[in-house]
Amino acid sequence: MKRMSDERRKKPLLYAFYVVIALAAVYVVNYHVLSTPFFGKTPVETARPEGATGLVALTDAASLSAGEAIFMGQRNLCHTCHRKDLGGLVGPNLTDDMWRDGCTVDQMVQNVKTGFPPKGMLPFGSTQRLTDQEVLEVVSFVISKQGSNPKNPKPIDPTRDKPCTR
Ligand code: HEC
Repeated sequence: MKRMSDERRKKPLLYAFYVVIALAAVYVVNYHVLSTPFFGKTPVETARPEGATGLVALTDAASLSAGEAIFMGQRNLCHTCHRKDLGGLVGPNLTDDMWRDGCTVDQMVQNVKTGFPPKGMLPFGSTQRLTDQEVLEVVSFVISKQGSNPKNPKPIDPTRDKPCTR
């Protein structure tokens, strides 16, 4: 008789245990199996490469002409090395789909900010600082010239340039 009553006392605990297991299963499925959780907040995206901020190129006319003014201006001197038609001179052709230092907006923004001092491109082209917005504008302008096919572009460097998709 004593045994029976012991078992009866244990039952609620056992049910509580089952409930906990069921909740854990629901939680795992919700957050780790479903791509969009059924309840609760969407987990913060974690798949981005280090340093990437997911910047997107600007496409509106005002931003592109602001970017063009920076590229053609005397302050940052982009055109002196990359040419006014972006076909490349000291610096590489910026109109083809061959890139040596990365072609995502994030990477290009970083490249303009830090430059390539050993190769002659100073930070921001000439060390004359640009705001984050201005860097994004000039990068967006460069991206807008993709495929523009200027005459006599600087040849690619087959040892370094590689196809890159954004
Ligand atoms: C003094 C010359 C010079 C100036 C001024 C200059 N660049 Fe460059 N740029 C270079 C050189 C040289 C490279 C190639 C670096 C390398 O070999 O890795 C380069 C590389 C780049 C790249 C990467 C190309 C690739 O294939 O990945 C971008 C984008 C770029 N420049 C944009 C700009 C912009 C925008 C400006 C103005 C803000 C600018 N550059 C000003 C010389 C210059």
